[in-house]
Amino acid sequence: MKVTVVDDDIFATIAATALLAGLPSGGPTLGVATGGTPMRVYAELASRSRRGEVDLSGATVVALDEYVGLDADDPRSYAAYVRTRIADPLGIPSPNVHVPQGDSADPVAAAEAFEQQIAEAAGVDVQIAGIGSNGHLAFNEPGSALDSTTRVVELSEQTRHDNARFFGGRVEDVPRRAITQGLATIGRARSILLLAAGSAKADALAAALCGPVDAAVPASVLQRHADVTVIADRAAWSRMA
Ligand code: PGA
Repeated sequence: MKVTVVDDDIFATIAATALLAGLPSGGPTLGVATGGTPMRVYAELASRSRRGEVDLSGATVVALDEYVGLDADDPRSYAAYVRTRIADPLGIPSPNVHVPQGDSADPVAAAEAFEQQIAEAAGVDVQIAGIGSNGHLAFNEPGSALDSTTRVVELSEQTRHDNARFFGGRVEDVPRRAITQGLATIGRARSILLLAAGSAKADALAAALCGPVDAAVPASVLQRHADVTVIADRAAWSRMA
């Protein structure tokens, strides 16, 4: 596992550079997390793209998760996040953008279809991941089986509380269920770039990287992956010393 601890003001630059270094040329497949932490990394990629320094228009983008009940046009959906913050600014056409279908009448079938889609694709070259304050990885909440695949999950109260900021601060508006790639699904990516920023992540990051590999801390499964790079700011790293 490679670790870079950075000052907050260079977090996005360092993360974007690490991401680009891990992508093969041609048509890479980028696995994207959709939380608050990677937003500035995507903004950095978008500005490099505008300046003509990078060309990711041939990339395929695969999301980790989606809220059940939100359609792709809902600005709070991860489909909208991926479209507006990643695919559109980088010039990636919509057929190359894959997000679980949150508004499917049959979310269980939509989850299975997404797992199948990932299995049939060439494979994720670099998976950007965040970590929840409760140690979740994507929407694999504590208790998720380490060998889990894409499925419908119940979101924990902690996660709904943490994500209320994207729903006008109203916890009651945060969906109760999501479709998420499983821990085994995520583990199939060739490399993983784990981003953690802020003191709210410090305990979870320390538990994930230094504690036992255990379903109680889903992100701890990353200890078993052969190619993980962690980029953390000093606050997120503060419990590691
Ligand atoms: P974030 O959280 O919104 O702080 O990036 C990541 C996560 O909950 O997985």
